[in-house]
This record gives sequence, structure tokens and C-alpha cells, in this order.
Amino acid sequence: MLHEHTYVVIGGTGHLGSATAEALLGLGRHVRVVTRSTAKADAWAVRGAESAIADIEDAAAMASALSSPQPVRVFALNPPGSIHADPDADEDRTAAAIVDALAAARVDRVVAISTYGVRRGRRIGDLGTLHRFESLLRGLATPVAILRVAYLYSNWDGAATPARTQGEVPIMLDPDRPLPMVAPADVGRVAARLLTREQPAEGIVHVEGPRRYTPREVAAAFAEAVGSPVATVRTPPQEWTNAFLAAGFSTEAAESFTGLTTLTDGDDWQLDAAPTRGATTLPEYIRALVRNSEGT
Ligand SMILES: NC(=O)c1ccc[n+]([C@@H]2O[C@H](COP(=O)([O-])OP(=O)(O)OC[C@H]3O[C@@H](n4cnc5c(N)ncnc54)[C@H](OP(=O)(O)O)[C@@H]3O)[C@@H](O)[C@H]2O)c1
Repeated sequence: MLHEHTYVVIGGTGHLGSATAEALLGLGRHVRVVTRSTAKADAWAVRGAESAIADIEDAAAMASALSSPQPVRVFALNPPGSIHADPDADEDRTAAAIVDALAAARVDRVVAISTYGVRRGRRIGDLGTLHRFESLLRGLATPVAILRVAYLYSNWDGAATPARTQGEVPIMLDPDRPLPMVAPADVGRVAARLLTREQPAEGIVHVEGPRRYTPREVAAAFAEAVGSPVATVRTPPQEWTNAFLAAGFSTEAAESFTGLTTLTDGDDWQLDAAPTRGATTLPEYIRALVRNSEGT
């Protein structure tokens, strides 16, 4: 089948990239997923997507991943850095490598992932590294839409087991402060829509779910899904850094995640313009998560 465009999905095996690749395949598009893993590439082949085996920091491999006889449209995601080393340094390096690769390949259109709460700063996790990624992307001579994405529902995936086995959801944030959140699948649908529409989108688009939820509502959604009481158990702010260190984070990572969590906990999430809203509710997501994690 002849396709008008090749859609390259960087981070195509993760939460947001796989949702985007899935949505693009659903629209009948020619999709190429970038991954470092041949096993994950094989899994995508079964589902109808091509793969490019490339590390973002390998310029030659990225040039090949972004090369096609058709114009190339790119879903650009800067992967999380290693929590065992210096994640900010990792993310600054991969952000620069992605933008260099996009510039060299002269791609047709880019939809890139950023985050709610993005701002100038150091040691504040992706709030700072994605601010620098956004600045680099704005230097491209290509239309770029930046999706500032709310807190992903998938951040709660690890809570399924303690919710079921101990009746607890571990939290750091204020249990009663509403947080903008969104399903990865909904972000993928928004990204696919912007990548495929006739006119390129440019500028910033905020993406969140149908409404905001407090961590206490997250516990209530788990309680409903597991069919027994679930309470939030909060690590207080003064213990955050030690909690990250105890979980195996490096000193740099613990400092950066403490900065990120502090800013996230204090944010009032005022936006300049109305967000694009996904339809998936948090209870729907958590019901599916618990169903899929049963027996694991
Ligand atoms: N978590 C949140 O609440 C939130 C909110 C807003 C924005 N964000 C942003 O969303 C992004 C994370 O998205 P996600 O949850 O979809 O990530 P994820 O599930 O952790 O997936 C990471 C992806 O990046 C790929 N990857 C990692 N290092 C790579 C490298 N060196 N070269 C090539 N590919 C590499 C992985 O592919 P392979 O392992 O297959 O190679 C995988 O596909 C980050 O930019 C984060 O800052 C997160």
C-alpha cells in the first residue's frame, strides 16, 4: 500500500509512544517505532508497525530511523533519564540529540511531549529538562506542536499491588489537592490527530483528562476496583529525599525528584487557555489496571 507519510514514533514502546503508534495504526497510517530493543520491535511488527533499532544518542541510527521516501512526521518524546545516575544530565543530552536528529533529517512535522508545570530551573526533574527541550524544539525550521501533558494515570500502575494486598496507596502529594491527570491512551489519540490533520498544529496544547482528581480519589478508585477499603499513606515532604534514596535513587536523582515533587505539590495549575480533554476517567483506567494485574 502506498502511504503519503511515514510516522516515526520516538519512545514508541513506552506509555505515550505506544498509545500514539496504536492510534496512528488505527487511522491506517504507516508507522515506524523507534526502540533499542529487537524483542520490542518484533512485538510491533506483529501489530503492523515497522521498527527502527536506534539509541537516540546514535546520530547515524537516528538518521536512518528518520529517513523515508515519503515526508516524515515525528512524535518526539524525550525519555526519562536514569534514576541511578544523573537523570537531568541524561535528559539534557537526549533532548539535544533528538533535536539535532530532527534538524538534520528536515522532517515535515513534529508533535513533541512536554509537561504541565514546565518551567526554567535546575534539579526540578522534567519540569526543567522539558523546558530546555521545548526551547531547542522552537529553533527547528519545522512546524512543532508541543503537548504539555498532565500527570499520567500510568504513574499509579505500581499502586495496584499494595492496593490489593495491603489496602494502601503510597503517596507523596497532598491527599486532598486536585491534580490534572490524563490517560496515556488519550494523549496518544491527541498526538495522532495533530500529526495526521491537514494543517500542521503549532505552539502549545495542554492535554488532561475529563476532570482533576485528588490522591484520595485515586485510593477510592482502587477501593472500588479491588472491592475492599484502600487508604492513602503519605510520605511527608521532609522525608521525600530520604525516601527516594532508600528506593535506590542516586543523590542527584533524589534531589531532582524532591524538587519536582515540591513544585508539583504547590502548583495551582492555572492555564492560559482551555486544555484539550481526554475522555477516559481515572476510575475507568484503574478498573482496567486492576483487572489486568490480577494474578501477576
Ligand atoms: N509521568 C508523567 O506523569 C509525565 C507527565 C508529563 C510528561 N511526561 C514526560 O513523558 C515522557 C515519558 O513518557 P512515557 O511515560 O511514555 O515513557 P516510558 O514509558 O518510560 O518510555 C520511554 C520510551 O523511551 C525509549 N527510550 C528510552 N531511552 C532511549 C534511548 N536512549 N534511545 C531510544 N529510545 C529510548 C524507550 O524505548 P526502548 O526501551 O524500547 O528502547 C521507551 O519507548 C517524558 O518526557 C516525561 O518527562 C511524563
